[in-house]
Amino acid sequence: MADKHYIVVGGTRGTGRALVQHLLDAGYRVSVFGRNHAAEPTPSRLGLHTVDVSDVGALRSALDLAVDMHGKVSSIVFMQRNRSSTDAFETDLSVALTATRVAIDHLLERAYFSENEAGNGIVMVSSIADHYIAPEQDLGYHVSKAGLVQLARYYALQLGHKGIRVNVVSPCVVIKDAAQEYYKQNGWITERFERFIPLGRAGKSQDIINAIMFLAGDQAAYITGQNIVVDGGLTLRSHESIIRDFPRTGQ
Ligand SMILES: NC(=O)c1ccc[n+]([C@@H]2O[C@H](COP(=O)([O-])OP(=O)(O)OC[C@H]3O[C@@H](n4cnc5c(N)ncnc54)[C@H](OP(=O)(O)O)[C@@H]3O)[C@@H](O)[C@H]2O)c1
Repeated sequence: MADKHYIVVGGTRGTGRALVQHLLDAGYRVSVFGRNHAAEPTPSRLGLHTVDVSDVGALRSALDLAVDMHGKVSSIVFMQRNRSSTDAFETDLSVALTATRVAIDHLLERAYFSENEAGNGIVMVSSIADHYIAPEQDLGYHVSKAGLVQLARYYALQLGHKGIRVNVVSPCVVIKDAAQEYYKQNGWITERFERFIPLGRAGKSQDIINAIMFLAGDQAAYITGQNIVVDGGLTLRSHESIIRDFPRTGQ
């Protein structure tokens, strides 16, 4: 069960990094792609690949090296998101979409997916910004997140007969470990999460990891092309119901 090799693209920070730790704790071999790795001792099951995924040649070389080091790939999880504001639209698309396509195509061309009866799980992390508009995020973020959903559906149809499943996880708000302090100091936001989110709290990295592990793993053997929204039920609410529930000034 633990004899699997996972690649986590964008596993150096945030929820991606928490996923890497989860996979290591579960005994898997893990290859992490990103530009800035923490200087920490690395167990032999962990491969750190310093790569800007918008550099197509470097991305392909990193995939070759990852397979050389840790063997064929059981699953690949795409967590990366552009945070640079330089050429934001183009960079968002190349980091999120082009890199994902290039990586999948390279794994297929080189026959890098391992044999697995329950199939190999590809998981792309999108966002509820794939269909709602979050004004604090830029246009490229929205377009690239929406694009990931169709990328997944397209590949799901193309790759099903090869035993490769492709699914999406779409988080809403996630309070990452690094952001805990901010939310502690801004309790009013947490109170609003408790009030408006049906499950009574904001998401945590572990909530996203649980959905990824399910979709990447054998229990999702008959699931492909799906987008699981991990939002505590928030997007079930009509916009009007949220507006009406909003405290009046002074309440
Ligand atoms: N946090 C939330 O509330 C939330 C909500 C909805 C969806 N999501 C989605 O969940 C995923 C994880 O979010 P997060 O907030 O944990 O992300 P994050 O902390 O911003 O981490 C992003 C990751 O992407 C990597 N990355 C960015 N540009 C790269 C490039 N050019 N080449 C290689 N790697 C690159 C970063 O690595 P380096 O900097 O080391 O290169 C980092 O590991 C993202 O896809 C995000 O859109 C998050």
